[in-house]
Amino acid sequence: MPENTWWKRGIVYQIYPRSFQDSNGDGIGDLEGIRRRLDHLAWLGVDAVWLSPFYPSPMADFGYDVADYCGVDPIFGSLGDFDRLVGEVHGRGLKLIVDFVPNHTSDQHEWFKESRSSRGSPKRDWYIWRDPAPGGGLPNNWNSNFGGPGWTFDAATGQYYYHAFLKEQPDLNWRNPQVRAAMHDVLRFWLRRGVDGFRVDVIWHLMKDEGFRDNPVNPAYQADQPDINRTLQIHSTDQPEVHGIIAGMRRVLEEFDDRVLIGEIYLPLDRLVTYYGENLTGAHLPFNFQLIHMAWRAQDIAALVEEYEGAIPPGGWPNWVLGNHDQARIAVRVGAAQARVAAMLLLTLRGTPTMYYGDELGISRVEIPPDAVQDPWERNEPGLGLGRDPQRTPMQWDGSPNAGFTTGRPWLPLTPDHGTRNVAMMQEDPSSILNLYRRLIQLRRRHLALSVGDYVGAHADGQVFAYERRFGTERLLVALNFGHAAQAVPLPEGVAGARVLLSTHASGEPAIHGQELALRPDEGVVLALS
Ligand code: GLC
Repeated sequence: MPENTWWKRGIVYQIYPRSFQDSNGDGIGDLEGIRRRLDHLAWLGVDAVWLSPFYPSPMADFGYDVADYCGVDPIFGSLGDFDRLVGEVHGRGLKLIVDFVPNHTSDQHEWFKESRSSRGSPKRDWYIWRDPAPGGGLPNNWNSNFGGPGWTFDAATGQYYYHAFLKEQPDLNWRNPQVRAAMHDVLRFWLRRGVDGFRVDVIWHLMKDEGFRDNPVNPAYQADQPDINRTLQIHSTDQPEVHGIIAGMRRVLEEFDDRVLIGEIYLPLDRLVTYYGENLTGAHLPFNFQLIHMAWRAQDIAALVEEYEGAIPPGGWPNWVLGNHDQARIAVRVGAAQARVAAMLLLTLRGTPTMYYGDELGISRVEIPPDAVQDPWERNEPGLGLGRDPQRTPMQWDGSPNAGFTTGRPWLPLTPDHGTRNVAMMQEDPSSILNLYRRLIQLRRRHLALSVGDYVGAHADGQVFAYERRFGTERLLVALNFGHAAQAVPLPEGVAGARVLLSTHASGEPAIHGQELALRPDEGVVLALS
């Protein structure tokens, strides 16, 4: 039996708390709402829930601007609600992962208020303060990820502070040992309350170049791109010293049993895998977002999987993500038919899958009218298609008003087809993507080959990507047709027989003629080989 702790074997399900279930009619989801919907997660069969931030926050970036790391924002409930939720999650044999946002606080955090109060403040060095450039102006050319300069001038003390995101999100100075100690205590606070791990926000941002050198100009920048692309983030992110910081967090987790550290990292593969850390002292799971940005073509995806499998350090465990609260939904990116193929890919690759709430309903494009826009990035840089509201719309539960999400006015619109695209209706429809997700999850649970088995590439051409998963004597073949035409796929050599375990198509079966599998358009299948 390979070592197969929960975060390797299991499936993670991300909940954006504002949008899962409202329990008090204010149009915004909350912790009590999540508690009431745990049946859905049990029915679906996932193993762990990751909650995006629910901490006290002015909500300039919807909770990613934390004003108190050790509390619950009244919009989301109370610490009592949180404790009840952890208890019930655990009572159902599930795990709970929370978001940890260490790169920046809210400008309303007591630490920052203290820090900006004077140059002599004991917390001055908890944040990143710099004098104006000689002759005045910005200390360097670092941009904000949400548009405009990454520096804001504080007239009262005559210095600039750095913020990689909004000016309401000042970056903490992780070079300061007091900051590290205070943040480690935040981790312990939640670990003692029973959380099973953390998803660490923008973990590759935590350390910046000590000399604050200018970032190089990006020669490929084009005017239709966000501001942040004007320069290459060479000196403002991904510094060698970050790995020591992550190892420090990891040591805190190891004071407790079997907790997981997941890092949010948007970097090319060769950089990403360094976040496993030297001798695996880094993140257990550096989030792998490569499927989000890769062209949806069989050969490209096959090459990506091979490259990723080859790049992971010995003993490191892979993971896969199709979407999250920052990225256009998978059904928007690849269409309804391919979203089913994508589900099969996610749940049959080697490595921990992270699902995003609502993807199991195939939620697709939701138009956000200009006067309903919420996302600060869209407001700062309108019209470039950067807005993240469409992937944050409410979960759709049933045929009641607002699909059962709220009795009030939802903070973002639902999909126009929420009357039918909802959990209650789709559970009744054997051909729904919801039931496909559930069957895939059940299949993954039943077959160790899928959850912890080896990956062996089998076939890739212009339209089809096929691979085996193997454990002991069991061999499964996953064959995915990325195209809209029927396609024949050779079975691996020496295979005597093949039996269909699951198809993304709800009815009929792909034909197997001798050594050939005939996939229908947009079809994925899992076969048992003998
Ligand atoms: C991460 C979060 C995103 C947030 C940003 C700043 O990328 O996922 O939602 O806006 O960090 O905290």
